[in-house]
Amino acid sequence: MKTYSTAASLRAALLAAKRAGKSVAFVPTMGNLHDGHLQLVRRARQLADVVVVSIFVNPLQFGANEDLSTYPRTIAADKEKLFAEGTQFLFLPTVEEIYPEGMAVHTKVAVPALSETHCGASRPGHFDGVSTIVSKLFNIVQPEYAVFGQKDFQQLSIIRKMVSDLCMPITIVGVATARADDGLALSSRNGYLNDRQRNQAPALHKILRECRDAIACGYDSYSDLELHAQAKLRARGFEPDYFSICDARTLREITLDTEEIVILAAAKLGGTRLIDNVTLNVNPSSDWGMLAAN
Ligand code: PAF
Repeated sequence: MKTYSTAASLRAALLAAKRAGKSVAFVPTMGNLHDGHLQLVRRARQLADVVVVSIFVNPLQFGANEDLSTYPRTIAADKEKLFAEGTQFLFLPTVEEIYPEGMAVHTKVAVPALSETHCGASRPGHFDGVSTIVSKLFNIVQPEYAVFGQKDFQQLSIIRKMVSDLCMPITIVGVATARADDGLALSSRNGYLNDRQRNQAPALHKILRECRDAIACGYDSYSDLELHAQAKLRARGFEPDYFSICDARTLREITLDTEEIVILAAAKLGGTRLIDNVTLNVNPSSDWGMLAAN
């Protein structure tokens, strides 16, 4: 595995691989890698000859009162994991390499509407930071494939829209959320939880699944279900940010055209903000029915 810290050196190395006819799959990350990230790398390896992973804690996607300074940075352990997974190229740029003239004057990429609801409503500017860094990384790496986790469902929707709107020749591949045995979605931020909170945390996924089961059984008073789920979250020690049953394509309310439902949730446990989601395929030829794998 070779590590590059400048865009120019990575591009030169990738050019040689591309000229030799190799296809490229890309996994952007912020590091502190867990098995969820490694599943993305494994998927990337299935898709292409060459796997590029980036590790960059992107300051542009953090709000003023968020955890940029404390976000876990574990580069040595990350490198070992990536090497063991057969990653060929690691891009590890500095903030100065990515934003040489500072973030305030850097060009921004924004995906309106989709970026403004749910996490975008609670974290203003967050998704502009994500779409800006992801488009910049895409331009540096120029992969055929880019792989993202479905845990960040809204982020994945925004990236798909950005790639479609800007005609980027990249196939976006989503990978099912990796979970601990008790159902908790793997996340770098789980490390912030103390023992008591770690025991409480799987309730988020449990309440999402209960809501999905109710819909699959035909219950369609979505706002009642949302309120009920929020009350259950509070009873389990969470401070809910949102719990929202939506159309998986638009992330807006369900309509007669909805083919897949996503239930999105964000909630705080102490100071730690957790997000998760479950999906439900709506089979138009029968009842609401087919439960998705995730
Ligand atoms: O999901 C993440 O880790 C980040 O938002 C991403 C896509 C690497 C952009 O910084």
